[in-house]
Amino acid sequence: IKTAKILVTGGAGFIGSNLVDELIEDNEVVVVDDLSMGRLENLPVSRHLHFFHQSINNKEFMEKLLIDWQFDYIFLLAAVASVADAIERPYETHEINQNANLHVMEVIRVHQLPVKKVLFASSAAVYGDHPTLPKKETSPIRPLSPYAIDKYATERFLISYGKLYGIPTVVTRFFNVYGPKQNPQSPYSGVLSLIHAAIRQGKVFTIFGDGEQTRDFVYVSDVIKALQLLILHEQALHDVYNVGSGQQVSLKTMIKHFEAICQQALRLTYRQPRAGDIYDSGASIEKICALGYQVQFAPRQGVAHYIKSYR
Ligand code: UD1
Repeated sequence: IKTAKILVTGGAGFIGSNLVDELIEDNEVVVVDDLSMGRLENLPVSRHLHFFHQSINNKEFMEKLLIDWQFDYIFLLAAVASVADAIERPYETHEINQNANLHVMEVIRVHQLPVKKVLFASSAAVYGDHPTLPKKETSPIRPLSPYAIDKYATERFLISYGKLYGIPTVVTRFFNVYGPKQNPQSPYSGVLSLIHAAIRQGKVFTIFGDGEQTRDFVYVSDVIKALQLLILHEQALHDVYNVGSGQQVSLKTMIKHFEAICQQALRLTYRQPRAGDIYDSGASIEKICALGYQVQFAPRQGVAHYIKSYR
């Protein structure tokens, strides 16, 4: 994207800040982030960056921002991203994960803002524990938590607003994203950020279950490529796309990659599986690949790049 006005909600967070790094060279980028999980240090220093320390739930602020700026592209990445957190405070997180995003669409509709496309970041969580793998966009939807329900409902709202009111939209379903700037501070942070922190600090890492559970781990640079492709591709319209690596890999295999690349053993301890944990997960990425998406970082390459970026 070039010479555009772009809004990234959650732009100081893990995925958001990696996206801002890519966009900032050639565009004016506005970031709205309440810094609940995001960090200012994640953001580049640039006169093209306009940072607002605000919640997307501040409706007055968001309305004014959207009207004042007349954005070309909008990436809705802000969320309470922890499923566990959403289970603790379902009503509060609903305000952010669903209503605040719906409000953005409503402001665009009411003021007929000329946005070229709005992208909403949904989650593989919408598939729940349905056993057929890999998950396709057409697989059964079984949202099992308030978090997943909000993600799914917001997907539908976005697409429905898109079709009814002529606002171009697209939705991504992220699988297990990992890489630089992922915050390892909560026990519910992405497992690879916790492994990365443990191996660097020589700390013990706890495996919940037998470690043979599988996930589709996708490196953040590949996710950023997917976001840019989907926001620009004219065929990616009012539709949903899985974003993953297309490889289903066990936790133990990922740990082996970390150990091989760091040339150091990770100290392990085992506990009971987490309540509500899904054993296996994997993405079909055929749909996005048909638009020209290519995975650059297979799991081992991704881990190597992740570790190198901290040296
Ligand atoms: C991920 C998403 C979640 C989404 C779900 C949908 C993250 C952080 N979470 O959850 O938002 O709803 O996919 O598919 O991306 N584990 C350990 N030890 C630890 C931490 C985790 O063994 O210290 C295990 C977990 O029990 C799990 C696996 O690692 O089996 C992955 O955990 P996690 O990174 O939290 O992601 P998901 O549970 O897949």
